[in-house]
This record gives sequence, structure tokens and C-alpha cells, in this order.
Amino acid sequence: PWNADVAQQLVARLSGLEGAMLPVLHALQEEFGYIDSAAVPLIADALNVSRAEVHGAITFYDDFREGPPPARIIKLCRAEACQALGCESLVAELARSRGIVVDQHGAADLVVETVYCLGNCALGPAALVGDQLIGRLDAPRLMALCDGAAP
Ligand code: FES
Repeated sequence: PWNADVAQQLVARLSGLEGAMLPVLHALQEEFGYIDSAAVPLIADALNVSRAEVHGAITFYDDFREGPPPARIIKLCRAEACQALGCESLVAELARSRGIVVDQHGAADLVVETVYCLGNCALGPAALVGDQLIGRLDAPRLMALCDGAAP
């Protein structure tokens, strides 16, 4: 969880670096898993830049999250081989039966993200949940994963 004292210490420790913005943001993200909005004024003060600049840097790079990561992230392969094996029908099924829009972030519990090739092309459609690679994914299994089933 976010901790203002720890954040303050991290920012203070790194703020003297040349081009400190990115090292500071990476350090915060590594420590907390995201960059809390409370960090923006801290960083702005320490680096003597505007809050808008800090916010701009956070939103410019896809790597940085502005909120806690969702409990579950399902990475669904939508590259060519998995397309040939029906991954797009899984995308449609997510929307139809769960109202889940792939690559839409913000949900606290579950996000489904597009990835391009997980190296499991012969066994597509492929997905990755945590470090678990899943092959021959079908709609029932995907829905179970959405419900929190073990991968
Ligand atoms: Fe999906 Fe390679 S195309 S795993």
C-alpha cells in the first residue's frame, strides 16, 4: 500500500540525480506497484518542476500505473496464429457475456490485455495469467479465469 513517508524518502534520495524524473517514477512504481496521485506534488517540489510536468511524464509512459494494479491480469494473445485459432471470438464473448472490453484499464478486479504472441502459437488461442501460460483457451475456461479460477 501507498506510504507517504516511504515515498518521501525515495523521492529525496533520487531527486539529486541528473534527469531524476524517470528514476523517481520507476522507484515509486517498483515500491508500490503504482504511482499514487499524492506523489505528484512531492515530485514536483523535489525536482522543481510543475505538477503538470510530473503528471505528463506519468501518463506518457505506458509502464506507469496511476492506481493499484488489478487483482488479476489476463494477457490474451491476438497475434496472427491465435487469430487463426479463434482468439477474436473470445474477445467478442468477453464483451457479450461479461461486458469486459479488452485493453480497458481501470477495473480493480480484472483487466484483460492484448499481447502479441506468447510463443505458444501451435496451441492457441494462448493466454498468460501471472506466470502461467495457457493453451487452447476456450470461452468456458476464459470465463472461469475471469471469475478467479486458478490458471
Ligand atoms: Fe499467439 Fe503466438 S500468435 S502465441
